[in-house]
Amino acid sequence: MNVLDINSIDTNVSEELRAQMRAELPEVEEIKNEDLRQRVINAWALAIHNSSFASLRDMPPSGNPGKMVLKRGDQTDHIRGVTRAAMALADEFAASNPDMKIDRDIIIAGGLCHDVGKPWEYDANNLKRWREAPRRVGLPSLRHNAYGAFICLTVGLPEEVAHMAAAHSGEGELLVRSLACTIVHVADIGYWTIMLAGDLIQPGTESQKYIRPISL
Ligand SMILES: [Fe+2]
Repeated sequence: MNVLDINSIDTNVSEELRAQMRAELPEVEEIKNEDLRQRVINAWALAIHNSSFASLRDMPPSGNPGKMVLKRGDQTDHIRGVTRAAMALADEFAASNPDMKIDRDIIIAGGLCHDVGKPWEYDANNLKRWREAPRRVGLPSLRHNAYGAFICLTVGLPEEVAHMAAAHSGEGELLVRSLACTIVHVADIGYWTIMLAGDLIQPGTESQKYIRPISL
């Protein structure tokens, strides 16, 4: 696909690709609601199918194209790590605060889908197109959070999961994040901040915001 056109999204995703996504993101099995689980799988299958990537494992392990690049691994390491960290945070706060309403299924779905727009933002064809004419379509035209929300809504994921794709990132500073989105946002920021502190980010790719993630 060369340009973003809602009518050109190919929804003809194979069962084989769905099974592959399920294998690449095994945390999806922890989602108890069968319909939600299927839609998370469909979201990733649709995002990969409409990109030049054949697998989530072919995507570089970074926060943005060329930024915060892990020294090893692939994009599944980030997606899965954030999801598990968000689950751990959710479990701790739910156990310590029984009156806090945390939907574990939504946390897992949102953790897995928060970066579902990355196949679009990382696509070499898109990057080339945007860099050639940034003042015509933008650079990028849509970041992964916006495209991710589009994918979530296209596959019928609930509004609260689309919100987590849309607002887990800096764009979420423009609105009030839900509790679930806040948990995934903190897990995501924490992931990159801790990987940087642990010397697992390739030198020269660091983003300033993770060096000083909290402004006082
Ligand atoms: Fe992320």
